[in-house]
Amino acid sequence: MTQGIIISLGSINADFQVRVDKDPYQTTTMIGHDLQRLGGGKGANVAYQAHLLGASATLIGRVGNDDLKEQALKPLREMDIDLTYVRAVDGASTAVSMIAVPPNGKKKIILAPNANDVWVEEDKDEVRKAILQAPEGSVLVADYEVAPAIVEVAINAAQEKNFTVILDPSPTDRVDKRLFEKINYLIPDASETEGLTGTAPASLEKAVSAAHKLLDQGVKNVLVKLEGGGCIAANKEITFHIPAIPVEVVDTTGAGDAFAGALAVAVMEKRPLKEAACFASAASLVAVTGFGSQPAYASRERVEHYFDLTIDKIEEI
Ligand code: RIB
Repeated sequence: MTQGIIISLGSINADFQVRVDKDPYQTTTMIGHDLQRLGGGKGANVAYQAHLLGASATLIGRVGNDDLKEQALKPLREMDIDLTYVRAVDGASTAVSMIAVPPNGKKKIILAPNANDVWVEEDKDEVRKAILQAPEGSVLVADYEVAPAIVEVAINAAQEKNFTVILDPSPTDRVDKRLFEKINYLIPDASETEGLTGTAPASLEKAVSAAHKLLDQGVKNVLVKLEGGGCIAANKEITFHIPAIPVEVVDTTGAGDAFAGALAVAVMEKRPLKEAACFASAASLVAVTGFGSQPAYASRERVEHYFDLTIDKIEEI
């Protein structure tokens, strides 16, 4: 039997990441240090994490035909991630994220999407084809840091093939709620949850209420990623809380993408919701313990370790 693959459609960025000694944006200019030039972007990070966990991953996205594209693509190429559907667009710059990480790890990002948003009409056919030819049992993970029209094409193609669809609803102002009925797993973070429902998940009770509002809007499963780690997971049958195991938080950049990549792998492996949510949560916990996104991602052994520490602590609500 052919194995499914993880198809990741989303942003591919060159990340410029610095540490800062206090909360960014309090002053006009502040000094940063420890610059890292990394590959990043939600789509790229998801593919990277899925691959590290042992899945085959294909990335669909756009970079610019410039020097920055190497920064974004080299780590992916070195991992053997399939880049057949990554195109370099002439005349566009590769997307850039400028990331400042204060001592509490709660990063602030300025993103210039550049090539991530440069798609032409014919690209829709190519994206559709890429998804239709993927093996049975594949999983699509999409985010909205690429053009919404392409996200829609991808979701429709995945549905045609009966693939599981995981949507990271970021940024929320691009989200098309008419597609919610086609989404198997919606994975908003705290601010996206508030953006989509008007309810900030500031307490467990509020997170549950927001998750149920999203279920009412048609998605099949909702996993609300909580500020301090862990998540609330809900579908029409069950709602539960995955608590966060205490870890030393270095940098929260890319933790949500680790969550998405790990969830995709667990779903492809047909793990039940509790296990899949716990596995995803474990991957994001490990991701916050290192500086940068992709360099902080963990292999399966480490993720399974945090999974084992968490699985018995799940609380049904
Ligand atoms: O989700 C985090 C990723 O998106 C980072 O790698 C950065 O590129 C951001 O914009």
